[in-house]
Amino acid sequence: MIKFLTILIFLISSCHQNIQHINNATIIPKPQKTIVKNGVFNLGSHTNLKFDSCFYDEAGFLKSILQMDLNGEKNSIILKHNETIRKEEYYLKICEENIIIEASSSIGQIHGIQSLRQLIPINYKRNTLNTPIACVEIHDYPRFKWRGMLLDCCRHFIDKEFIKKYIDLLSYHKMNVLHLHLTEDQGWRIAIDKYPELTNTGAWRKEKDGKIHGGFYSKTDIKEIVEYAKIRNVEIIPEIELPGHCVAAIASYPYLSCTGDTIEVENDWGVFKDIYCAGNDSVYTFLEDVFTEIIDLFPSEYIHIGGDEAPKYRWKECKKCQRKIDQEQLKDEHELQSYFIKRIEKFLNSKGKKLIGWDEIIEGGIAPSATIQSWRGNNGAILAARNKHDAIMSPTSHCYFDYDLDAINLEKVYSFEPIPKELNINDSKYIIGGECNMWTEHAPQEKIDSKVFPRILAMSEVLWSSKEKDYQSFYQRVQNHYPKLDKLNVNYGYEKTPIKYNIKLRKNEFIISIEKGKNNMELEYKINNQSWIKYTSPFNLKESAIIITQETNTKRKNPASKEIELNYHKGLGKKVSYHIQYDNSYIGTGKNTLSNGIVGSSKNFRDGQWQGFFGKDIEVTIDLEEIKNFSEIKTSFFQYHLSWIIIPKSVEYLISTDGKNFNSIFKSENEVSPMHIGKFKESFLCNKKLTARYVKMIATNYGKLPKEHPAAGSKSWLFIDEFIIK
Ligand code: ACM
Ligand code: ZN
Repeated sequence: MIKFLTILIFLISSCHQNIQHINNATIIPKPQKTIVKNGVFNLGSHTNLKFDSCFYDEAGFLKSILQMDLNGEKNSIILKHNETIRKEEYYLKICEENIIIEASSSIGQIHGIQSLRQLIPINYKRNTLNTPIACVEIHDYPRFKWRGMLLDCCRHFIDKEFIKKYIDLLSYHKMNVLHLHLTEDQGWRIAIDKYPELTNTGAWRKEKDGKIHGGFYSKTDIKEIVEYAKIRNVEIIPEIELPGHCVAAIASYPYLSCTGDTIEVENDWGVFKDIYCAGNDSVYTFLEDVFTEIIDLFPSEYIHIGGDEAPKYRWKECKKCQRKIDQEQLKDEHELQSYFIKRIEKFLNSKGKKLIGWDEIIEGGIAPSATIQSWRGNNGAILAARNKHDAIMSPTSHCYFDYDLDAINLEKVYSFEPIPKELNINDSKYIIGGECNMWTEHAPQEKIDSKVFPRILAMSEVLWSSKEKDYQSFYQRVQNHYPKLDKLNVNYGYEKTPIKYNIKLRKNEFIISIEKGKNNMELEYKINNQSWIKYTSPFNLKESAIIITQETNTKRKNPASKEIELNYHKGLGKKVSYHIQYDNSYIGTGKNTLSNGIVGSSKNFRDGQWQGFFGKDIEVTIDLEEIKNFSEIKTSFFQYHLSWIIIPKSVEYLISTDGKNFNSIFKSENEVSPMHIGKFKESFLCNKKLTARYVKMIATNYGKLPKEHPAAGSKSWLFIDEFIIK
C-alpha cells in the first residue's frame, strides 16, 4: 500500500510539473493565430517521423535537435508539403495522435520546427518515456520579410562557434538575417587570397596596453558558417565597408589611401579620416577583386557595402580625388561618394548581387537599385521609400543593442514600429523590415549575450508578429522563455536599467527613490562614503551628495552598481530659458536638465543628464525668482573628441536684476586641447560675491573639428549638464 501511495504521489507531482510546463508553453515571437486544445501528444521513443521527400534535410534537422532516431511505432510527427501557402507560412497542429507541420518551402518548415522546439517542455530529455506536448493549432507567417541582427566582428573578434550559436538563436526566434560586419578601422576579419596582407597585417591591432588583439575567418570557416546557417534559414549578409571605416585595409596596403602613408590598424573607437582614395582606379580594382572572392563565399542575394561615416577631409586635399570630381563633372565630395558607390553597385549587379548601404549613401545621389539601412533615425528610410527604394529600419533610438538599458530597454524595443508614420500605404511597402545592431566597441564576446538578450525577443516580435501589441502579455511570455534560454546557454542581461535613480525636488529637498530592474532585486546604498544602508523606500536629502547603490544577494558574476552625484544649489528647480535650442538627439531631461541638481557622469555622456548642442553655441538664462546673494557660478562640459564632443572655446557669465540689462562678470577661454584623449569633463568656475536675480551663460562652440582630428572639418558637439549657482 505504501509503495502504491508513493507511486501515486510521484505520478501526481510529476503530472503537476508537466502541466505547469505545458501552461508555460508559449512561443516568441508570438504566432499570428494560436488555438489551444485539450490533451497532450506524448513524445518518446515510440514516436516516428514521416516526411514528404522535399523535407529530407528538415527531418534530419528535427532529429538532430531532439537527439532521437524517431523510428517508433505509436505516434507520429509528420512534415507535410502544402504548395498552396506562402514561402514563410506554416501550420503546426499538435493533437494526441500526431504532430503535423505543413509548409510550402524549407523555410516555412523550419519555422514550424522552431515553434515545435519552443513548445517542448524544458525538462525534456532524450529518450524519456513520455514528454507531453500540449495540443495546439498554430497558423503563422511573418509581418516583415527582413528580420535581422548585425554582429560587429571587427571591434572585437568573435569566434566561429559563437557565430554559430547566434545563427541557431536567430533561427529559434525566426530572425532570418545575420549581418556580419567584417571589415573596419580596427580589424579586417576575412581571408582574401589575392590580398594576404589584409589578414597578415589588417586582422591584428596593438592595443594601448601593448597587447595584440585580432583574428580572422578563413574561407573554410566562412563555408562552415554559411552551411550551418542554410538549414536554419538564416541568410548571412557580409558587410565590406567603403569608402570609410577602412583603416585596417589601408594599414595592409597603404596605396589604397589618398596620402599613401603607412598607418597602423586603429586601436581607438570613432570615425577616422583615412579612407579609400576615390580618384585612384587601383582602389576600384582592389575592391572588385575583394568582392569577387566575397561573392564566391556568400550565397546571399545582398552584399552590404557600409557607406557610413566617411569624412571627406582627405578627398578635399587629394589631387587624384579632385581630378576625378572634374572628370566626372561632380559637384562636390558628396557626389564623389555617390560616384564611388554607384561604381561598386554596377559591379555587384553585374555579378547578380544587390547592394545595401547605410543611409549616408543617399547623400550626393542614391545608387539606382540600392537598399537603404536607416540608422540615423527614420529619415533615410522615408527618403528611400518615397523614391521607391527598399529600406531596412535600424534607428539608433530602438535598434542599437550596444547602447545601455538607460537608453533602450526591453519595453522600448517592444514599442518600436518599423513603418515611419510619415509614409503612406503605398510607400510603406518599401520598408522590408528591420535589424538590431550589436556593435562591439564596448562589448567583447563574453558581454554580447547580456546586451542582446532579452532585447532581441522584443525585436523578433516587432518584426514577425502582428502590429497589435500588449507589453504585459509579452513580458509574461519573456518570463516563461528564460528557462529555454538557460538551456541554450544564453547569459541574458536585464530587461531595464537594474538600478535607476528617480530624483524629485520637493520644497528644496531631493526625494530619492531607486527603481529596481527586477522586482526581486535587493539593493543597498551609501551616501558620501558613509556606511551601507539597505534600500527599502525613498529617502530625502538637503545637501550635495554622491550616492552609490549596489545589488546584493545575487548569483550574477557582475552585480549591478550605480553612482549618482547631486549638487544642492540656489538654482535648483528654477526656470532656465534657452536662447538657442538643444539638439533632439541629446535632450538630457529636457528643459529642467540644467537646474535639476543632477550632475552628469564624467564617463558617460549618454547617462541622460547631458544635453547636446550640435555645431551651435549655448546661451541660457536662469531665473532665481528673486534677487539673491551668491558667490559661485559653475558650469561643466564634456569632452570626448572621438565622438566629436569638445569643450567650448570660451564661457561667459552675465548677471541682471531685471532680466533685460546684463553685466558681464566672468569670461574664460578654454585651454584644453580639442584632441586631448579620453572622456572627461571640464568646469568653468566664477568665485565672486554677487547679487542678482538672472544669470546668463554663453558657451562658444569649438566650431569645425581641427585638421588633426579623424573627422576634420565636421561640426562639433557641446555637452552641458548643470548650471550651478551657490
Ligand atoms: C553606424 O552605426 N555607423 C551605421
Ligand atoms: Zn584621393
